[in-house]
Amino acid sequence: MGDKKTFKRHTITSALPYANGPIHIGHLAGVYVPADIYVRYLRLKGEEVIFIGGSDEHGVPITIKARQLGVTPQEIVDKYHGMIKRSFQEFGISFDVYSRTSAPIHHETASDFFKTLYDKGEFIEKTSEHYFDQEARQFLADRYITGTCPHCGYEKAYGDQCENCGTSLSPTELINPKSALSGNIPKLKETKHWYLPLDKYEGELREWILEGHKDDWKPNVYGQCKSWIEQGLQPRAVTRDLDWGVKVPLPNTEGKVLYVWFDAPIGYISATRQWAEETGEDWEKWWKDPQSRLIHFIGKDNIVFHCIIFPSILRHEGNYILPENVPAFEFLNLEGDKISTSRNWAVWLHEYLEEFPGKEDVLRYVLTSNAPETKDNDFTWKDFQAKNNNELLAIFGNFVNRTIILTHKYFDGKVPGLNELKDEDKKVIESLKTFPDRIGGSLDKFKFREALAGMMNLARLGNKYLTDTEPWKLFKSDPGRVKAILNISLQICANLSVLASPFLPHTCAKLRKMLNIGKLQWDRAGSVEILESGREINKAQYLFENIDDATIEKQVQKLLNTKKSNEGVIVNPSKDNIVFDDFVKMDIRTATILEAEKVPKTKKLLKLKVDTGLDQRTVVSGIAEYYIPEDCIGKKVCMIVNLEARKIRGIESQGMILMAENQEGKLSFVSPEKDFPNGSEVK
Ligand code: MF3
Ligand code: ZN
Repeated sequence: MGDKKTFKRHTITSALPYANGPIHIGHLAGVYVPADIYVRYLRLKGEEVIFIGGSDEHGVPITIKARQLGVTPQEIVDKYHGMIKRSFQEFGISFDVYSRTSAPIHHETASDFFKTLYDKGEFIEKTSEHYFDQEARQFLADRYITGTCPHCGYEKAYGDQCENCGTSLSPTELINPKSALSGNIPKLKETKHWYLPLDKYEGELREWILEGHKDDWKPNVYGQCKSWIEQGLQPRAVTRDLDWGVKVPLPNTEGKVLYVWFDAPIGYISATRQWAEETGEDWEKWWKDPQSRLIHFIGKDNIVFHCIIFPSILRHEGNYILPENVPAFEFLNLEGDKISTSRNWAVWLHEYLEEFPGKEDVLRYVLTSNAPETKDNDFTWKDFQAKNNNELLAIFGNFVNRTIILTHKYFDGKVPGLNELKDEDKKVIESLKTFPDRIGGSLDKFKFREALAGMMNLARLGNKYLTDTEPWKLFKSDPGRVKAILNISLQICANLSVLASPFLPHTCAKLRKMLNIGKLQWDRAGSVEILESGREINKAQYLFENIDDATIEKQVQKLLNTKKSNEGVIVNPSKDNIVFDDFVKMDIRTATILEAEKVPKTKKLLKLKVDTGLDQRTVVSGIAEYYIPEDCIGKKVCMIVNLEARKIRGIESQGMILMAENQEGKLSFVSPEKDFPNGSEVK
């Protein structure tokens, strides 16, 4: 390709999450963490950048959820928008603006787009047959209709997409379509809609993507676009028969709204407008100036919308720039299974923040080092623990901690001077110089795992340098040498505080505090002249803590419980702990039932005569629905023999026979497995 374009500023968007559920690690790994790393990096480079996010509040999943819960769609989106926004903020996703598509400014912006395209005569207006649910008296858009996928045979495919094979569908392609509202077989009925003529745009899309972005778009993104274009693009309806969304801004269109995938990406622009109103800045340059570089961070299921449909809308509106790149990630799985909001198979961000306070960066680190960049990847709690304990703590944390502690021990917390250099020092200094460009180069190419590994290698370099030079053994004999070693180690710490900060922002803020320095620009890194000698540093503070097995076990257990409850097995949670002394107060013995008869005029009660080994006594037991008297006689059981006697239906019951109760309330004797004599103690 010709010369590289240069840009004045960067408009960075991250896919707007649907406000129908909380954020989970799949969202974070696939979109928000990489976008945030990238934006933080650009800011450190001194670039002008805006980072845009917001909630996608329209679309059928939201109305379906509202209907299920018997609330309004607005109530649903209010709840989740608030929750999502808060958790992003606590986690440290550094949006300049986090907006929402139910905001009036968004309805206005999206309407204007539609009107402009309409007035220019871009749309095709077409009356055709769509599925209609006669009982619910409603057209069935997208997810309101389910059926069998014609490509893979999956039986729960939606009218717009098969979640099993990922294919985009239209409702009429489904085999055995069913209404999600009533379960009925829907009927086709005529209705009018507006279509974006993607078929007419094929030439320009080919030129722009297939020729123009062959080398700079990721292969998965480029490949998907290519296959879409080569399969032949079809006109795409941009309106729906629904009552939740942006109203179609034309006369006589009651009950019609813009298709969610028409309005949602325009949400990036509305958000920028909102930000501009709040800050008094200009919004238009971010979207209309060809010197602005537009980048969309998205998950792989969003590729066609961001590479083909939205750019076509922008282009034909006439005034807008097109994306320069669309870094799309694959999916993250959890413990080997697909993450799913409806099956509750996820690690939820708001829960993580509560259960792991102060450990935001650990999750950022693990998600980045496992980022599903080129293929789907797996998150496991064991790996989370290992990455924290063996990498963050053992390498990064250990290196910084040793350096700071030794500086206090030998030099009163003041940065020692760098005097004579040995070969081993020069080598480290030379190597240090290469890190900013190497890490930056990976980030420029959206290679986040590679960039993270580069950052960790710097911590490794420092850690190894300390271990190899062993300053703690030299102080008595050669204090001058120790000065050089600790100066260089401290400089590496300062370098880390810059180069690690896109990945580990909270940690680097702590590190800067320890080193008593402010935020530095990316280009200051690579040198051993960041900390001048004599500068006082603060006391060591732990950057990371060990995560123990019990903590991890608890998370794994939580997931196992989810799995069980998905399979319909419900186990009651355990009761509060008791002390051992409470337990030994119970005198439990093996016993044999000698006689059994029904208690007259009751349904549940049997009167039993039991040999406890100590004596023979009478017990009234509520087991008549599960055992007939004949089956009880001769049974070996366990019994509490020191329970205070109670009168039940006029009969004195002297103890209690232990029973197990299953989910449905059925009872079973708990019998000793070996034939022990009556009166054996159970403990
Ligand atoms: N809500 C969509 C999803 O979660 C993403 C929308 S991105 C936008 O898949 F561009 F439309 F905003
Ligand atoms: Zn399928």
